Amino acid sequence: MSTRTIGFIGAGHIGSQVARLATSRGYPVVMSNSRGPDTLSTLIGELGPSARAASVEEAARAGEIVVVSIPLKNYRKVPVAPLAGKIVIDTNNYYPQRDGQILELDNESTTTAELLQAHLPTSKVVKAFNHIYAVQLTTDGQPAGSMNRRALVIAGDDAAAKAVVTSLLDEFGFDTVDAGPLKEGWRIQRDTPGYGPRRTAEELRKDLAAARRYADQ
Ligand SMILES: NC(=O)c1ccc[n+]([C@@H]2O[C@H](COP(=O)([O-])OP(=O)(O)OC[C@H]3O[C@@H](n4cnc5c(N)ncnc54)[C@H](OP(=O)(O)O)[C@@H]3O)[C@@H](O)[C@H]2O)c1
Repeated sequence: MSTRTIGFIGAGHIGSQVARLATSRGYPVVMSNSRGPDTLSTLIGELGPSARAASVEEAARAGEIVVVSIPLKNYRKVPVAPLAGKIVIDTNNYYPQRDGQILELDNESTTTAELLQAHLPTSKVVKAFNHIYAVQLTTDGQPAGSMNRRALVIAGDDAAAKAVVTSLLDEFGFDTVDAGPLKEGWRIQRDTPGYGPRRTAEELRKDLAAARRYADQ
């Protein structure tokens, strides 16, 4: 049980599912989307009394941890000042057909989470939840110590922030595999072996090691 408020920028497939996990473990959540709080009443009703809807700015301000779960093409619209110094969990993936071509990702000179980190220079960005289908977030979690527990990858440049996210994932029902700094996040991007399937920690470590850059595939 925690009283640490989690803010959400993006309340679609992934944002709403992470919010379900959070409220079911006692976390207050503040949800936001692009169309405004009035459009979130059904979700808030479902999430219950520890959830409320707000503007993007307010969700960013209210969250002690903030989950950014939006189409990648909109990452520059994430407000910078209210996220200063905070842990920001980045779930985003790059799909050119949705996001348009992003040169630095096409030439593999950076990664999705490094783009968000560059946009939020004083926040502590941790990549997480990007390689699991949204629906499985509420079906695949198991208590710590379960046989063949599913694992999820994180990446980040701040060790303390990663420890907080690791503990959150454990509460949500998942083991964690640390891929290293944000720049290693490509190892779990679209089309890598670990992207999508149910994996234990041991399997995911092998997947990360086996990942190849797009240019090398
Ligand atoms: N779906 C999956 O299984 C899955 C799994 C792992 C990772 N991901 C990644 O996670 C991200 C979110 O995916 P999703 O499937 O949850 O997308 P989605 O269902 O389309 O939801 C996107 C959410 O982002 C909001 N949004 C868009 N632009 C925004 C902005 N500028 N400010 C605030 N909110 C904004 C949308 O609000 P409105 O509806 O009001 O526009 C919506 O709530 C994507 O990058 C995706 O690739 C998805």
